[in-house]
Amino acid sequence: MRVSVVRHISNIALIGFMGTGKSTVGRIVAEQLDYDYLDTDALIEERSGKKISDIFAQNGEPAFRELEAQLVEELGARTSTVISTGGGLPTNPANLVSLKKHSLVLCLWLSPEKIYERVRDQSHRPLLHSPDPLGKIRALLAAREQFYRQADVLINGELRSAREVAMQVISQFRLATNSRR
Ligand code: S3P
Repeated sequence: MRVSVVRHISNIALIGFMGTGKSTVGRIVAEQLDYDYLDTDALIEERSGKKISDIFAQNGEPAFRELEAQLVEELGARTSTVISTGGGLPTNPANLVSLKKHSLVLCLWLSPEKIYERVRDQSHRPLLHSPDPLGKIRALLAAREQFYRQADVLINGELRSAREVAMQVISQFRLATNSRR
């Protein structure tokens, strides 16, 4: 049986794999709409006083996922906010259910090759510390695709700039909320 959840869409949530541009796009969207901007990774780091990589190393991934889930529960109190989420956050189905109550959820999608091109010179993502980062990206993306596909809207950013993707996000949000903002 499908249980329908009442949705009061007053926020925008961006989900998607590492390196798909959630933070860059989210900031542009927030600025354009004059919304607040919130980044779940940044907030977790601020509250715990630790870098994500240190949380993974010292407390383990399950502890990080627990912090993510707690934070997601608090987001229901937000309005007029663009929420950029960590790449693994939607793999906990409860997180998506919770986000959808108050947000239009959009997934930014890129091919594994494009993701690799974007992240290969960055070192702050513990899950990509691997001798074969592209292989790891391919495997993780394949495992997570089922979760990302549950977004309200999928946006392929392969051939688009961050600004173009941001405009698509805004246009989808306007359609969903009948808003002229
Ligand atoms: C993760 C993605 C990261 C961060 C953590 C785990 C993931 O966020 O939450 O390193 O599981 O994909 P970004 O998607 O912002 O890089």
